[in-house]
Amino acid sequence: MPLHYRLGQPVDALCISGLATQVFLDTYATDGMRADLAQEALTVYAPARFESRLSNPATLFGLAERDGHLQGFAEIVANAEGPMPSLSAGTELVRLYVQRHAHRQGIGQALLQQAEALTRKSGKPFLWLSAWVENHRARAFYQAQGYEEVGITHYEFGGNAYENRLFQKLLG
Ligand SMILES: CC(C)(COP(=O)(O)OP(=O)(O)OC[C@H]1O[C@@H](n2cnc3c(N)ncnc32)[C@H](O)[C@@H]1OP(=O)(O)O)[C@@H](O)C(=O)NCCC(=O)NCCS
Repeated sequence: MPLHYRLGQPVDALCISGLATQVFLDTYATDGMRADLAQEALTVYAPARFESRLSNPATLFGLAERDGHLQGFAEIVANAEGPMPSLSAGTELVRLYVQRHAHRQGIGQALLQQAEALTRKSGKPFLWLSAWVENHRARAFYQAQGYEEVGITHYEFGGNAYENRLFQKLLG
């Protein structure tokens, strides 16, 4: 079955929430479950929170589906306040999640290219993102897609601070 790419609508919130929760815990709860991770998964990744973001015109979702099944998505936000002042002129890639079963099939790359095309279309000069320093797979992926490491920031939840690397790609 071929992959199908389209923009997300509020009605997609339930499936995006399910996939996002699965990929978030698969990626970050690698030593087992902790209260802060479970809390993040069940609040920020809840269907109602995705429905609200899907209804916000400043947030766009790109979806990758095969045979009606969601396999990955990208979430971008125009006008996001960046942890470095210079980043606020660009669009933030907030999440890019592909189900583990579908890795290394080009889905992440296609979703990223779709996010870059949407960013260009909106007139923003670059796409930026932050990735956990220990997420070596994501860091290798973004480097392979032409992203440059431009700084360091920390993401805090549940009283813990996680070092993240900032990546940026200028879109000609
Ligand atoms: C990072 C992620 C989005 C990549 O998605 P993907 O669909 O597997 O990536 P693609 O198949 O499009 O890979 C494109 C290229 O990126 C590079 N790449 C991808 N995964 C890689 C890995 N694990 N190690 C090294 N390079 C990698 C390769 O150059 C790859 O090309 P190749 O397969 O021909 O060698 C996916 O691993 C993912 O969803 N991870 C969990 C969530 C996550 O960490 N998201 C990013 C948070 S910042």
